[in-house]
Parts: sequence; structure tokens; C-alpha cells
Amino acid sequence: MAQDTLSQEQVIRRGMDELVVDTTSVSWVDGQQGRLYYRGFRIEDLAKSASFEEVAYLLLCGELPAGQQLQGFSWKLRQLSHTPEKTIRIIQELPRHTAPLAALQTALAALGCTDPKPKYSEEETLLGLALRIIAQTPIILAATYRLHQGNSILPARDDLTHAQNFLYMLSGRVPDEEAARAMEIALIIQMDHGFNSSTFTARAVASTLTNMYAATSAAVGALSGPLHGGASEEVVQMLADIEEWGDPKSYLDNLFASGGKVMGMGHRVYKQTDPRAVIFEKLLAQLTRNEKSPKDIQTLGYVAGYAREHFAARNQPIHVNVDFWSGAVYRRLGIQPVLFPAIFAAARIVGWCAHIIELRQNNRLYRPLSSYTGPVDLKFVPLAERGK
Ligand code: COA
Repeated sequence: MAQDTLSQEQVIRRGMDELVVDTTSVSWVDGQQGRLYYRGFRIEDLAKSASFEEVAYLLLCGELPAGQQLQGFSWKLRQLSHTPEKTIRIIQELPRHTAPLAALQTALAALGCTDPKPKYSEEETLLGLALRIIAQTPIILAATYRLHQGNSILPARDDLTHAQNFLYMLSGRVPDEEAARAMEIALIIQMDHGFNSSTFTARAVASTLTNMYAATSAAVGALSGPLHGGASEEVVQMLADIEEWGDPKSYLDNLFASGGKVMGMGHRVYKQTDPRAVIFEKLLAQLTRNEKSPKDIQTLGYVAGYAREHFAARNQPIHVNVDFWSGAVYRRLGIQPVLFPAIFAAARIVGWCAHIIELRQNNRLYRPLSSYTGPVDLKFVPLAERGK
């Protein structure tokens, strides 16, 4: 009973497939070539040579920082890395089993309540807000994680970098150079990724001219779904399921036969291997160079190879994505699976803020149309007469 007829130019794009809704110069996902650029730089180069702080500056301010700019930026980030007492009290009231992303969504909204000027929209104030949100995110996540593990919360240290501090606040130990660099690379390569679901959410919410806390909190909600940021944890579950099943081949045959999805594979934009997965795989090889035949890597390698053949035989361009190897990397950093999706948020928070700042320079309310398929002009029946 469709009432709404589409004009010739109007096409319904469910899931917004192939739809271009805005311009951006923050990042570009070249799905055909399997490349990802931040402000024009290949992520491989940034992962090889840049720090978290440098790449965050690049995304937020549009260019790589010179020495003094980087110093000032890193100093501000550290200044804003104090424990948010009121927000932490709210987190402490949540049930112990609360997922870190759910706690972060709550905490970002709460941080907005404790900021006396959340609504200011001048560029400088927006950057200040972004820095506060970026600095507070790992603190909130680490606090939630430690509470989840039954440990007391640790404050950030002044003498550590952003990535070092994150690992320190999670474990209580200052990480060695290799672990700190591994976390830094993980954060760098997941900072931004075009108009993915959570970034689109951040932009859509920010386009109403609400504050940055509301927009980033909503983005965390979008990230928490298994089709987006939750897949790294699902990969761990898949490994456990395969272990229980006993044999990866028959597990996958059964999964494919029942129309199930291999977690950590497939992407809306990439028609090639996700370049972030390539970096994670190399990082994993480096971190496990002294391990003798690690079971999880063997199983993941088998899954990737067998699934690739399965998809190739059907002409489906489905490859491993960013979430396929990341969990195995995080495990080597001593982190439990419950935090895996939240590490994604600790990185992506930078991209969300960069997109909000970009949007505010030329804001336009995001307001798409829908095609109505329900009835119209129904006769209202009073409650007393219904069901007779
Ligand atoms: N395993 C098995 N089949 C897959 C698949 C996967 N991981 N990803 C996609 N497909 C198949 C679908 O079953 C569908 O097949 P069909 O046309 O025969 O029905 C086809 O490929 C298109 O899938 P669809 O889910 O419509 O594509 P999408 O563009 O919406 O997919 C994802 C993108 C990420 C949602 C999807 O690949 C997925 O669910 N992957 C697993 C979750 C994941 O790893 N998410 C992290 C993303 S970074």
C-alpha cells in the first residue's frame, strides 16, 4: 500500500550503499586499491614513522605538526589527562559486567554535563573540547576495564606518552618499548576511516549543532555493534567455537552452509585486503617471533586461507578486515577480549572529533528522506470501541 511515489531521480539506497552525502578531507578509503589515506598520507607511512600525537594533530588540524606545535599539543593532551572524579563515580555505579563501550558512551555524555562550556563552537574551543574528549577516553576505558577485572583505578602519569599511558592505566605496569609502539600503531591505523557508521553518526548528530560530547557519545553507540567495532571480540568467540567444534574446515563448511558470517572478514568499501589488516598481521608476526606455533594464529591463518578460497570460487570480493588479526595482537599486549572493541574507540575518537570540527566549518543539517510504505487517512477508533 505504498503512498509515496519516488520521482525518476530518486532511488532508495538501503544502508546508504554508494551514496555520497558530503565532502571530507580528513581521510580517504580507496576500496579498489585497498588503501587508506589520512589527509593525503598513506597509513603505512604514518604507522611506520609517526607518533599517536603527531597523527592526532594531523587529523584535527589538517597538517603534520612542526616540533613546537607537537610539543604544545602533547602538553595540552597531558594536562587534560586527569581523572574525571564525578564521571568515574557514575561508572562505579554501573554493574561490574558493563561492556567498556557502553560505559564510555555513558561517560562521554556525563563529561558533557561537567563541562561548563560544552556548547561553544568557535574553532579554538572546538579543538580544546576535542583534546579533552581524546585525553579522557583512555582514562575512562582503563577505569572501566580495571573495575571489570576487580582492580582499583589508576591515574595517568605525566611522564608517559598517550599510548604508554593507556597500557599503563590498563595493566599497572609501564609497557616496554615494543608493546607501547604496538599499541601506538594500533591506535594510529584505526583513527579514521571515511564515512563509516560511527563517523556518520557523529557527523549526523553534530550537524544539529549539539555539542561534541553528545555527538561522540552517539558515535560510541554505533561503534558497539558487531557489524562495526564489535567484530574483534567476535573473532575471539569464533576461535573458541572452532576449538569446541574440533576442526576449522568443517566448522567453516557448516557456517557457510547455514549462511553465517566469518567475523573479521568483509567490508562495504574494500574490494581488496584491508590495509589495516596487513599492518596488524605484520605487527602480530613481530610480537610472536619467539612463540612456537601459536594455536590462535594457526587457526586464524587457516580460516583466512580457506574462506578466501570459498569467496574467490563465488567471485565475492571478501577479504580479512581490520578486526581479523587485531585481537591476537591485543592478547599479546596482555589485554582481555572485553576491551578489544573499546580500543577501536580510543583510536576512532580522534577521527570523530576531526570530522565534527570539519563539519562545523560549513555545517549543514543531515536530514535524508525516506520512502513511506504505510497506510494513510485511517479512521481513528476510540479506545472503548477497539477490539470489538
Ligand atoms: N562472511 C561470510 N559472508 C559474508 C561476509 C562474511 N564475513 N561478509 C559478507 N558476506 C556475504 C554476505 O553473506 C552476502 O552474501 P549474499 O549476497 O549471498 O547474501 C554478501 O557477502 C554481501 O554481504 P553484506 O553483509 O550485504 O555486505 P555489507 O557491505 O553490508 O558487509 C560487513 C559489510 C562488514 C557488514 C560484512 O562483511 C560483515 O558482516 N562482516 C563480518 C563482521 C565484521 O567483520 N565487521 C567488521 C567490519 S570492519
